Formats: sequence, structure tokens, C-alpha cells
Amino acid sequence: MCGIIGYIGEKNCVPILINGLKRLEYRGYDSAGISIINNGNTCIVKNKGKVSALEEKVSLMKLNAVLGIGHTRWATHGIPNEINAHPHSNEDNTLFLIHNGIIENYQTIKKGLKQIGYSFRSETDSEVLVMLIDSFLKKNYPLTKAVQLALSEVEGTYGIAVIYKDEPDKIVVARKGSPLVVGLGENENFIASDVSAILAHTKQIVYLDDGELAVITKNGFLVKTILDIEIEKEVHEISMSLDEIDKGGYSHFMLKEIMEQTESVTNSMRGRLLLEDGDAKLGGLANVIDKLVNSNRIIISACGTSWHAGLVGEYMFEQYARIQTEVEYASEFRYRNPIITNEDTVILISQSGETADTLAALREAKSRGALVLGICNVVGSTIARESNAGVYIHAGSEIGVASTKAFTSQLIVLALITLLIARKKSLSAAEGKELVEAMQELPDKISHILKLNDTIEQLAEEFKDSKNFLYLGRGYNFPAALEGALKLKEISYIHAEGYPAAEMKHGPIALIDEKMPVVFIATKDSTYEKVISNIEEVRARGGRIIAIASENDEEIDTLVDYSIKIPDTVEMLRPVLTSIPLQLLAYHIAVKKGLNVDQPRNLAKSVTVE
Ligand code: F6R
Repeated sequence: MCGIIGYIGEKNCVPILINGLKRLEYRGYDSAGISIINNGNTCIVKNKGKVSALEEKVSLMKLNAVLGIGHTRWATHGIPNEINAHPHSNEDNTLFLIHNGIIENYQTIKKGLKQIGYSFRSETDSEVLVMLIDSFLKKNYPLTKAVQLALSEVEGTYGIAVIYKDEPDKIVVARKGSPLVVGLGENENFIASDVSAILAHTKQIVYLDDGELAVITKNGFLVKTILDIEIEKEVHEISMSLDEIDKGGYSHFMLKEIMEQTESVTNSMRGRLLLEDGDAKLGGLANVIDKLVNSNRIIISACGTSWHAGLVGEYMFEQYARIQTEVEYASEFRYRNPIITNEDTVILISQSGETADTLAALREAKSRGALVLGICNVVGSTIARESNAGVYIHAGSEIGVASTKAFTSQLIVLALITLLIARKKSLSAAEGKELVEAMQELPDKISHILKLNDTIEQLAEEFKDSKNFLYLGRGYNFPAALEGALKLKEISYIHAEGYPAAEMKHGPIALIDEKMPVVFIATKDSTYEKVISNIEEVRARGGRIIAIASENDEEIDTLVDYSIKIPDTVEMLRPVLTSIPLQLLAYHIAVKKGLNVDQPRNLAKSVTVE
């Protein structure tokens, strides 16, 4: 979703802003812009489309300035075009603002501003905010106060950065519901919506919390509440490296991230498995473990791929930990007045740790007294910070918009939590040891699956022109089927549905004909025979079948058109393996269709609006 970067210091900020915006491209955007202030001169440059086009425009202008802000916009109010792109400015181009989030009462504010003579160029909610701040500057308030006064009238969410020609020694930023960080350097400071934008310059980071405003100067920063109470903030040294956010020789981040799963899964388990005890160790849960083990109920709330991981978690928790578990879309959970007590544990799963709906679900659960745990990838993200306790998945930066390695690492962490609870309940050390051993074998099995890349690429050639796909699986592999379908639709724009295999008879079977590819996850587990019956039903209707099958299963080849053979593991861990060929299939189909795999249309990496 929209990205923010800002610089104040002694260097020319223009390349810093442009390179920072390039680092933010993965979040998804449709237009970009920068504005700068230098020696009493101001300039604003924007365009629809890519940052590279903005870069070309800017390089012709030979701009130089020590203060500036830049933005990538993902349209919410108003179509993607140059006028709606950020920064927005006041009428005389002295005040500039970039904004992530949504100003819900912008129509009311706009009406009031129009009555006192303001006119508007764009269709955005954000422009209203710059004019509102301007109206306070016109009443002779200094910039920081004007921002505070304006924000006190605003309903909705925002991460904003503002610069003003008459106070060129500062950037004022504020946050409510949209992430913002301050990066600290020597005689220079940075602001960004995401550390990857400024990682090339600093690892000293201050995370702003909701309701906070910061004034950033060349040599320091001051954080206050919107109501002007000063706040002490901790400076964090982050360990992320620049290599993590580079493509490392791969043609796309998505492929790099799929191929990294041997390593990312290993990292998610590192130091957390106790082989001899058949147990797991999760430092992040140490203080809450008794409450977790004795929970009446676990509710997992998340969105998209993380929600699919949650569904696998439900199977795990109910089978091994014997705790009743429900999985809720965060967007539904937050608005349906859910019944939650202080005997419940609510687990939020989020790669980014910033998803607006998941964050709102967290706050809802917390306010109702539940134990709130976060399973996040991005260290220091809002969900990670606001949870009572949690576990990082340590998958490393995930830049490709389609989530891949985060999914498999989320499954690993859910398996670790399952083991931890189950061993405190009825799971014996010997049974625990079997699970630990199975987990330790996963990286080798993943390497084996990744070697099937070329075979899967050929299969993609065969199916790239299909208009629809069905993905079917049962038990633990049902969520893997949903995830396979989501991967395909989001990057290849092919319509795909995931179903529990047996549900097919209750409707989707009507779609089956010789043009309909059906992907079955048919590994040899407790539902294998049933899945084979479902395969027969599709075969009888002429559907084209691709099976993800166990490597020793030769029989299945007599029933299906194509099979991808993968190693087996314990049932609980199957989706870690079965999801990987589906990621590769989606990837290769999208590449063969010539699509932008890392930045699919309309999608954003981190959905920070409702
Ligand atoms: C799909 C995808 C999305 C995210 C969803 C939640 O590939 O990436 O469906 O899973 O937007 O995002 P997080 O996990 O960051 O909360």
C-alpha cells in the first residue's frame, strides 16, 4: 500500500527519495511523487505510473535540496493520475503533505474549507488535510501546532509527513493506524513508512505509535502526542541487511522467496526444537504459557494467506493440543461483536504486522480481556508490539506481494506452538520426538521439492491459457488448496477456487468439463482414499487433473493427467510441503503470461486501510 519517505540533512535528498521509493515499490502503488524545499525554493514533481518514470522526469530537472518527502500512492479516493498523486500542496505551493490511510470525514472538512474560500485540485481525501493545516498556518500557528490542530479534527487513519517553506528546518510526521518510522543518522535523519526505504542509510530506528507526532530536524527528533505531551522513545538497532531486500540474482522477488524456503523454514525453527524432550521452546511465550495452555478456546484471526495458515493452525491445535479453535477473517471479527472472555486466547497472524483489519481485531480482543498473541514476520511491527506476547516467524524480508515463504514459516510457528501446548497436556515425549524429527527433516524435503522447478515450469506452459482452475484437498491440505488458488488468482489473474475435495459434489462439480484444470492435493494420508474417489468423479466428467502426490505413489499416475511427486511427512506438516509446488505453478503461469509477478495489479503488500 502507499509508501512514505522523507529526508532532512546535508546531502542532496533527491536520489535518496527516489531510491527509497524504489525500495517501497513492492508494497503496490499506481503513482509517485516528491517535493523538496531548498533555500526558499520549492518544487513538486509527480506522475502516474512507475517510480522509474518519476526518476527520469526528476533527472531532467537537475534538482538539489537538503529537505524533501516522497510518496508512492495506492489509489483509494480518486483514480490514479498525476493530480491525485502525492505530495499535495496548499494553493501557493509552500506546504507539502504526503498521507497514507483514509480521512473518513474528509467531505465534511472539505465543505467547511470551501466555505472559507479554499478550492481543491484533486479528488483525494489527503488534499483536504493539507488545506486544513494551511488554514491553521494562516492563523499564525507554527507548523507543528497547525498539524496538531488539524489532526484533532480528523477521523480516520493516517501516516503523514509535512514540510513547509517557512520552517525549512523540520519534517513533521504523525501516525494513527498507518506505520511510520524515524531513521537516525549523522547530521541527517529520515522518515519512512517501512524501514526498507531507509535501510541503505541507517539501522537506528524509532517506531512511532498511534497518536504520536514527531518533529524531525537535521540533528534530532522530538516525539509528542497529538495533544502535545512529550514522549521518550526507544531507539532500536535493527538487524535486517540490504541483501535481504535485493533480488539476489533471481528474476523476481517471488521466485527468490520461494527458493529461500529451505533456509527460511530452518530459521523459523532455529533454537526452538528440543529433540530429546520431544518439545519446543518459544521464549516469546514463556510468560504466558500457563494461560495459553489453560485457554478455554483459541481464536485465530488474520487475512488472506495468513488466514489460510490459521486454518492449518486450527487443525493442529484441535488434533494435538485439544483446545477448541476457531479461525476468523479479521475484517469480520472486528465488526461482529464477538463473544470473547478472559479465558480465551486470540492469535493474530500477520506477515507485515501492519494489516489494518488484523490490528483492529487485536485491539478488539485485547479490550475484551483475552490473551493476545502475535505471529508476525516484520520485527517491531505494530501487531508484534501491541500483542501481549508472541513469536516471530523469522522468515526474512518478504518483498514479493504474493506471500510464499511467510506462509510456510507461519505453519512452522503454529506447529511449534502446538507442540509446546500438547507436551504440557497429553502428548508423550516419544510422540513429541516424532514431530520434532519430522520438523527437522523438512528443510531437506523442501530442497527436494524446489528441484522440481523445471518440471513445474513445463506444466505451467501447458495450463497458462486456462481461464479457471479448481484446487481441492482434504484435512490439513484443504487450507493448502485455498492457498494454491489464492496464489494463482492474485498473480496470474486466472479465476481459481479452492474447496475441500468432498465439497465439490455440492456445487463446483457443475463446472467440470474438459477445459477445467483441477489440482488435487492427494498425498498418502488419512484421507487419501477419499481424495482418490473425488479424482474419479472429476475424471468421469473429463476434467484435466494435476495431482500433488506422494513420491512412492505410482498408482495415481493411472488416474491423473499430470502428477508432481513430493516427499511425505507427518500429516500435520504436509501443507508446508504441498504448498510449495503450488507456489511454483502460480509463479510460472504468471511469468508465462508476461505479468508483473512481484507487483500484481491492484494489490498491495501491506493492507493498511480497511
Ligand atoms: C496473499 C497475500 C495477502 C496477505 C494478507 C495479509 O499472497 O499476501 O493475502 O496474506 O493481505 O497480510 P499480512 O500477513 O501482512 O497481515
